[in-house]
Amino acid sequence: MANPNKASSRRQFFKLLSGGFLAASSLPLAGLAYEQNLPEKDQVPPIPKAPDLVAPDDMKFWSFVREQFPITRNNKIIYMNNGTMGPSPYYVQWVFFRKEEEVNFTGTYGGHDIARAKVAQFINCSEKEISLTHNVTEGINIIAQGLKLKRGDEVIITNHEHAGNAIPWYTRAKRDRIVVKVAPLGKDAAETLNNIERTITKKTKIISVPHMTCTNGQILPAKEIVRLAHSKGILVLLDGAHPPGMFKVDVKDIGCDFYASCGHKFLMGPKGTGFLYIKEEHFDRVEPIMTGGGSDSGWDYKTGLKGWNPTAHRYDYGTQSAALFYGLMASIDFVDGIGIDNITRRDKALATKLMEGLSQISQVEILTPWEEKSRCALVGFRLKNMPYDKFQNWLMEKYRIRIRGVGEGGLNSLRITTHIYNTFEEVDLLLKAVKEAASL
Ligand SMILES: Cc1ncc(COP(=O)(O)O)c(C=O)c1O
Repeated sequence: MANPNKASSRRQFFKLLSGGFLAASSLPLAGLAYEQNLPEKDQVPPIPKAPDLVAPDDMKFWSFVREQFPITRNNKIIYMNNGTMGPSPYYVQWVFFRKEEEVNFTGTYGGHDIARAKVAQFINCSEKEISLTHNVTEGINIIAQGLKLKRGDEVIITNHEHAGNAIPWYTRAKRDRIVVKVAPLGKDAAETLNNIERTITKKTKIISVPHMTCTNGQILPAKEIVRLAHSKGILVLLDGAHPPGMFKVDVKDIGCDFYASCGHKFLMGPKGTGFLYIKEEHFDRVEPIMTGGGSDSGWDYKTGLKGWNPTAHRYDYGTQSAALFYGLMASIDFVDGIGIDNITRRDKALATKLMEGLSQISQVEILTPWEEKSRCALVGFRLKNMPYDKFQNWLMEKYRIRIRGVGEGGLNSLRITTHIYNTFEEVDLLLKAVKEAASL
């Protein structure tokens, strides 16, 4: 039986939304038997649809985009930590809840597999090259634990890793005595490339580095790293936690061998969704470590395992949440509706304003490179007169601005992310706060 209270509170929830800029969903959710228990069709939260290029300061368009996010209605916080968790717009939540409801109402489950094709199209690869995971770390682990390596083989990471691209490799080092080499990040793309080149030896088998660092937002010269690595027979794994949803990612153009990412940062999808791209020609070099239903091409009690699934599905297995992956597809529709180039321009304009303002404050040391191609929507800086954790707490208490402190590697710095629901006014407020803290 439909729960009238629930239905009416949800109706109220969706009444918060305003109309306009509507884009139709491409998800096959129509015609469900429990239709009367759902918001009306015309209450489907909108996807803002951009007419080609939108100026980063087009107030009308970006205000409408902002309205689509519950996070902006929480007047207790200003959220500038999308790099940790990307809040979903109403549309993504609507698809997620509606699919979950369908599963529980009809008793059918499964069907999450169609997300492979959507993700593949989004990052330009073949559907068979996508494994559906739950986060970035899981994708990195599939490679770090499964790539055929022997004792003494070397992997290169940088000195600006998230734990998710360091611990899996150190785990493998502990187990199989491979060697983890650390290349320092340079001040720009050329220096970083040079540092990586100098760390390569005859034993290097894979370079596993962030596409964009989580510390100072430096975009690494991915294509150049791949070209260098491949010229020496070395593989490249990119930790792509941040770029999808922030700027265009084309794995075939980059040429990398593996790309691990998630739905829960700049894509603004459901939390606990991820994907891993594995170039088809490498399936035999990466052994599936965690396996089960779906990983195989058949098994029985006599022969045992007959073989692997011929696709990257061999690396994922078992029951998955259809609602999560429908939500992930919805987030791709949301991003596509606005247009990834519009998102990049808006995100970067906000970040540039922030960097320009920070550069005027004497106690601030900016850690993000100014080089255009090496930066976008993630800004790192240090306050010379205040430890990062003290500033982070003070900022939250006094200004209600949520950012991320970076204690990793002794960096003692701050990280701000600017995404489509943020405003130039929020950047101004943050700058005011930093100025005040710098004078304390
Ligand atoms: C660069 C980078 N890599 C990996 C991760 C880990 O991501 P997940 O929590 O999805 O595994 C993060 C998370 O913030 C990150 O910033």
